[in-house]
Amino acid sequence: MKETILVTGGTGFIGSHTTVELQQAGYNVVIVDNLSNSNATVVDGIEKITGTRPAFEHVDCLDYEKLEGVFQKYDIKGIIHFAASKAVGESVEKPLLYYRNNIVSLVNLLELMPKYNVKGIIFSSSCTVYGQPDAENLPVTESAPIKKAESPYGNTKQINEEIIQDTIKSGSPIKSIILRYFNPIGSHPTSIIGEMPNGVPMNLIPYLTQAAIGIRECLTVFGNDYNTPDGSCIRDYIYVVDLAKAHVAAMARILDGKSEDDVEIFNIGTGHGISVFELINSFERATGVKLPYKVGPRRGGDIEAIWGNVDKANNVLGWKADTPLDDILLSAWNWQKHLREAGIQ
Ligand code: WQD
Repeated sequence: MKETILVTGGTGFIGSHTTVELQQAGYNVVIVDNLSNSNATVVDGIEKITGTRPAFEHVDCLDYEKLEGVFQKYDIKGIIHFAASKAVGESVEKPLLYYRNNIVSLVNLLELMPKYNVKGIIFSSSCTVYGQPDAENLPVTESAPIKKAESPYGNTKQINEEIIQDTIKSGSPIKSIILRYFNPIGSHPTSIIGEMPNGVPMNLIPYLTQAAIGIRECLTVFGNDYNTPDGSCIRDYIYVVDLAKAHVAAMARILDGKSEDDVEIFNIGTGHGISVFELINSFERATGVKLPYKVGPRRGGDIEAIWGNVDKANNVLGWKADTPLDDILLSAWNWQKHLREAGIQ
């Protein structure tokens, strides 16, 4: 058995998939989650997939004393920090909730790490830090300028990146890898774990699969008059299992002492831009399901086009997203069908 890794937010969408990949790579995993946007049954699902039950602690990362108890109980060597509030719209309504949840949680972890000899932390950041890159900066590299955040949520990602940089610059004996994700989608191939949106989904894939299965009347494509080849917005859709594997590679890099800098930043995407219409075509091709959709007005605040240059992750981290889009969309569809069969949605 390799080292023990603390996964905060480990019952959430990306956290649960990452826990599975960590266990399958031989790591021992302790999950901390306050279950504010997830369910403890996810731990059963993880065990079903891997045959090993991760330790689970129902703790809020805001609660310093309880969080310290977790460090006392387990010999944690690395942290993957997912626990955060993540709804862009809600963050505009409740900025202080977002600043408290997302910033204090990280500060608590960074304070506890040296005290308990934890070597490194992987932080979930986002391509949202780039805003809309200028056309000549696409695909966007890690050195592209950081734009002023569009929402308090986005701002917490930027601030947290700075908090990590400042803490390590001040001499804290830890290392960090910041992963800037593009658009994570899809579900585990077993359909045992997947994305569980709360209420009406805001993101494209859960809305699309709910429309395909009849929970929603039809998908609205937000705008077909953008300056892109087919007029719809372009994103870099990354399979959640590929994304999970990027975390395993990053954790190993820190624990094996291979980091070249104390803080390293990697874009985590496919390197390909896909439009909303291309994605709909791919979904219909992969599943054989006809998707009900219509074109509606643009959504306020949407970025026209962004996709990542992922050369650094490919070459330095030795990781590559290689799952074909059709397979990813099929996994999302199978998950939606699983939710129907289980009577959940
Ligand atoms: C994708 C595309 C929509 C819904 C989110 C987060 C952001 C960052 C990345 C984490 C866009 C279009 C959507 C619908 C549509 N994540 N769309 N109809 O906007 O890229 O950003 O992921 O930090 O913070 O907000 O993702 O899935 O909402 O939209 O046409 O019903 O699908 O316009 O082009 P987005 P998304």
